[in-house]
Amino acid sequence: MKSDNYLITGASGFLGAKILKDLILKKIKVNGLDKNLLNNSLKKKIIRCDILDEKKLKKILPKYKNIIHLAAENSRSTYKKNKLKSHQVNVIGSENILKNLNKDQNFFFFSSCQVYDEFSKKIITEKTKTSTKDIYGKSKILTEKTIIKYAKEKGFNFCILRIFYVFGEGQNNEFLIPTLINQGFKNKTIEIWDQNSFRDLQYINDLSSNFQTVLLNKEKAFSKIINLGSGSRTSMKQVGKILSSKIKCNLFLKIKDKSVNCYTSMKFFEKTFNKKIKKTPLEKALNKTISYYLKS
Ligand SMILES: NC(=O)c1ccc[n+]([C@@H]2O[C@H](COP(=O)([O-])OP(=O)(O)OC[C@H]3O[C@@H](n4cnc5c(N)ncnc54)[C@H](O)[C@@H]3O)[C@@H](O)[C@H]2O)c1
Repeated sequence: MKSDNYLITGASGFLGAKILKDLILKKIKVNGLDKNLLNNSLKKKIIRCDILDEKKLKKILPKYKNIIHLAAENSRSTYKKNKLKSHQVNVIGSENILKNLNKDQNFFFFSSCQVYDEFSKKIITEKTKTSTKDIYGKSKILTEKTIIKYAKEKGFNFCILRIFYVFGEGQNNEFLIPTLINQGFKNKTIEIWDQNSFRDLQYINDLSSNFQTVLLNKEKAFSKIINLGSGSRTSMKQVGKILSSKIKCNLFLKIKDKSVNCYTSMKFFEKTFNKKIKKTPLEKALNKTISYYLKS
């Protein structure tokens, strides 16, 4: 094992590719692992491997001091279509990694805000009880429990990060912000399904930068579950207004019986690392995202 090198699973994905690129820029020794390869220069840094292939993982994992585990079935539509396979990837795939770690390694896991009740009445903190009906959220809760079990058994360090909604350049079209932007361009109308809903939306560049704070201060992160978001309660009505005014299209605001209200405090993060989180103003981040989808 090299001194302080990193392996990012899911490195061809939206978050993985950005984190990999940023760590390379920081001259950190890092590789990616993914079942799919990217079609750009990051490709040569990524090892092709399916996390369901435990035999192959056994050979790769011991070469790395730090494992950042992002590989997962993250798409709700794929999850709905193939629940068993998706659950296998998220739960068994993660366990394949955990089984093959040793006491000298550090493990960072990207869990999700979906472990909490999306219709929470209050601001979410790390003390908020997990509660979800969502099968993807359940797969994250199960994996969190499995991490704690294996960390005790094998003695490796771990940190669980519960990530809130990320948006920005490179996100798959099926997710919330790209869907709204594409609606604006194609249909000339953005439809907000519930104007009374609130989410913690974080820009991908901020996520990557705040995650680097975790890596730079890993001793402080170990054995902790930490929420990672923007710390802001963003109204979907406000998002609709910003997007429609930039794209110069109509805005159609709807109302639902029950509104999503899912946003986190970042106080625990800031206290743990003694650092303010990086946060790009919403309008600026949305502008950059619109420009990306306009070009692509
Ligand atoms: N994007 C968000 O807003 C968000 C929010 C909360 C949590 N997360 C979590 O962060 C992680 C990364 O999310 P993302 O948005 O980059 O997702 P993504 O779907 O863009 O990337 C996931 C990557 O994992 C890879 N992968 C899937 N199955 C695999 C397997 N069996 N073996 C190897 N690789 C496999 C995919 O090829 C893909 O490149 C996921 O664990 C996700 O649950 C993301």
